[in-house]
Amino acid sequence: MRGTHVSEANDEIIRLESVYKIFGPQPKGRAFELCEAGYGKNDVQRMSGHVVGMNNVNFGIKKGEIFVIMGLSGSGKSTALRTINKLHGITHGRVMVDGVDVQQMEGTELQAFRREKMGMVFQHFALFPHRSVIDNCGYGLKVQGKPKAERDEASLRALALVGLDAYAQNMPSELSGGMQQRVGLARALATDPDILLMDEAFSALDPLIRRQMQDEMMEIQNELKKTIVFITHDLNEALRIGDRVCIMKDGAVVQIGTPEEILTQPATGYVAEFVQDVDQGRVIQVHEVMAEPHPVDRSLALGDALTHIGDRAGVFVLDDDRRPIAVLTAGDGIRAQSVGSSSIDQAMRSDFESCTPETTLNDVYAAAGRGLPIAVVDADGRLVGNLDPQDIMKEMGRVESLIDGFEREVFM
Ligand SMILES: Nc1ncnc2c1ncn2[C@@H]1O[C@H](COP(=O)(O)OP(=O)(O)O)[C@@H](O)[C@H]1O
Ligand SMILES: [Mg+2]
Repeated sequence: MRGTHVSEANDEIIRLESVYKIFGPQPKGRAFELCEAGYGKNDVQRMSGHVVGMNNVNFGIKKGEIFVIMGLSGSGKSTALRTINKLHGITHGRVMVDGVDVQQMEGTELQAFRREKMGMVFQHFALFPHRSVIDNCGYGLKVQGKPKAERDEASLRALALVGLDAYAQNMPSELSGGMQQRVGLARALATDPDILLMDEAFSALDPLIRRQMQDEMMEIQNELKKTIVFITHDLNEALRIGDRVCIMKDGAVVQIGTPEEILTQPATGYVAEFVQDVDQGRVIQVHEVMAEPHPVDRSLALGDALTHIGDRAGVFVLDDDRRPIAVLTAGDGIRAQSVGSSSIDQAMRSDFESCTPETTLNDVYAAAGRGLPIAVVDADGRLVGNLDPQDIMKEMGRVESLIDGFEREVFM
């Protein structure tokens, strides 16, 4: 961990180093000593009566990434987030934001730092009920002393980003829950901060709206390249939106990794258990599973084409621009041969499915059920890969058995 900190220090915008946060009358007393000696949250609670919020937390967040902190309720997610803007002081350690030791700041310096560097979005919309949408949005700028015209301009820009500029003059009560949460996001964006801190921002929304919000947030992130620290107790959400995911338990970090790493190499039985509930296909992308395209030349004799197919589910026939126009499977070829035909044209079929290398396995899963190979095409429709239904199943099964094996190792 330390080593990567040094080499990646340049593009790191937030870094927590050996951070402890203990709640209770004497946070730096015996409770801290116990933590340092390696005792966990429950033991420390029992032996000292103090609550461990964070237990030796270390992580670095890169500029422009979506860093998700995931864990069950009480695992220390909100506490960790709140050390980043010093809504919490810490018991021990260091919190660096853009080269500044946040925990050393106080008073007006701290306030200005929070206002200019960070926007916060909470689970509950926390809008002022008696202010219009645009005034809610511009509130942070008002606190910064910006004139009305400038506030409105920035607010409208932010509202447009979340698709709500038409509602600028409405009152919050006239908006649905999802729309109100969008206003919350727009408000955080209005001051144009480098960092967004989002604490269970979508957790109160219906699944469908929630998915939409996740998509929108990722789009906005793509466009504006903000650094987002996103907290959730939902691993599916974490894996869906996170560039990297940090899993916490009892105030400590259990694992940090990309969604793929978390899924395929869970660091502990605890993570493995979480991962079991996750829909694997959602994060694994087609390019990780697809094979070389191996298209077949249409002028080939059917018998030779069958040899070319080998043990693949099928091969594609391309037009002059390398776009797939048909697929030839062994089954179709043999059937055509048995009724005396010797050309590919009479055996191939055009009712195949296509996807891109970035499509997730989940999204091609249903198509794979037909047993036909799926054409993987680039933005211009040219064939770049051949996705065999069996390989999809194999990959999804591989991850599952990996986790099963891991659990046997850990628990038996
Ligand atoms: N102000 C506080 N006083 C005492 N204990 C607290 C306080 N805030 C959080 N805690 C405790 O710290 C632990 C971590 O809480 P929190 O960070 O809110 O968890 P999460 O956000 O993951 O649900 C919990 O055991 C919680 O009860
Ligand atoms: Mg919380």
